[in-house]
Amino acid sequence: MEKVKVVLITGGSSGIGAATAHLLADAGMKVYAGSRRGTIEHPREGIIPVVLDVNDSAGTEAVVARIVESEGRLDAVVCNAGNGIYGPVEGTLEEEARAQFETTYFGSFKTIRACLPVFRKQHFGRIITVTSVMAVLQLPYQGFYASAKAALMSLSQSLSMELKGTGIECCSILPGDVATGFTAARKVTKAGTDPASPYKESMERNLKKIEHDELGGMAPEVIGRAILKQLQRRHMAVRVIPRIDYKLVGMLVRLLPAKTVLSVVSRMYN
Ligand SMILES: NC(=O)c1ccc[n+]([C@@H]2O[C@H](COP(=O)([O-])OP(=O)(O)OC[C@H]3O[C@@H](n4cnc5c(N)ncnc54)[C@H](OP(=O)(O)O)[C@@H]3O)[C@@H](O)[C@H]2O)c1
Repeated sequence: MEKVKVVLITGGSSGIGAATAHLLADAGMKVYAGSRRGTIEHPREGIIPVVLDVNDSAGTEAVVARIVESEGRLDAVVCNAGNGIYGPVEGTLEEEARAQFETTYFGSFKTIRACLPVFRKQHFGRIITVTSVMAVLQLPYQGFYASAKAALMSLSQSLSMELKGTGIECCSILPGDVATGFTAARKVTKAGTDPASPYKESMERNLKKIEHDELGGMAPEVIGRAILKQLQRRHMAVRVIPRIDYKLVGMLVRLLPAKTVLSVVSRMYN
C-alpha cells in the first residue's frame, strides 16, 4: 500500500492547519505548511513553513514545483486556508461576497489544480478539503461562508468521481465549532455594521452566540486527528464530520425535512 509521506497544508500558520501539521509530523510525514505569513506556531523539524497565498495561482504552482523538486514527490494536499464574513445577505456588497469565495473556494480549487498533474504522474494522491458543518447546516448571517463551503464540498465530491481509478482520492472534512483565530479574523460586512439595520438586534445576539460557541469549541487537534486518520487509510472516506455530536447533527439534517431543520436552527440562533 502506498504511504503518504509528503504533505502540503494550506493555512498552515495557525489553528487547524498548524495543529494538523504537528500531528502529521509526529506520524513521520514531512509537512509543508503554507500561509501568507509563511510561519508556524511552535516550529520544529519535519515541518517546513512556506509563503503561499492561495489566491496567487502562479505562486501556488511554484510552491508545489519546489516541493516536488526537493522531495521527489507530493502525496497529499490539505486545502485548509479560509476565513469567514458575517452579515445579512440583504445589503452584502458583491465584492464582499466574491472575497469570501476567493480564498475559501477558488483558493482551494487553484491549490488542487496545481497538485493534480503531480498526483496523476504518480498514480497516487490524496486531496483533503477542510469545509465546515455549515456546508450541510446553514446558520443565519453566514450565508456566503456556508455557500462557499458547500460549493467546495460539492467540488470535492464531483472530483472524486472524475478521479475514480486514478489512485487519487478526495475527502471533505466538515468541522463544527473549533477554538482558533478564525473567530477573531471574521470580517463583519458593511451591512452587518449598519446601526440602522433591521437585523441589528438579531445579528448582535447571534454573533455573541456563535463567538461563544466557537471559542468554547473543540481543540483544532480533533480535526487534525480526523485528517491524519484519513491520510493513513488505504482508501479515504468521501466526507467526514469529526466528533460524535456533530455527526449526529449531520445525520438529523439528512433525515428531517429542511423546513423543520431551519425552524429549529432559527429559534436557536435568531
Ligand atoms: N474555527 C472553526 O470553528 C472552523 C469551523 C469549520 C471550518 N473551519 C475552517 O477551518 C479552516 C482553518 O481555519 P482555522 O479555524 O484554523 O482558523 P485560523 O486559525 O484563522 O486559520 C486560518 C489559516 O488560513 C490562512 N490563510 C488565510 N488566507 C489565506 C490565503 N489567502 N492563503 C494562504 N493561507 C491563508 C491563515 O494564515 P495567514 O493569515 O498567515 O495566511 C491561517 O493559517 C478554514 O478553512 C475555516 O473555514 C473553521
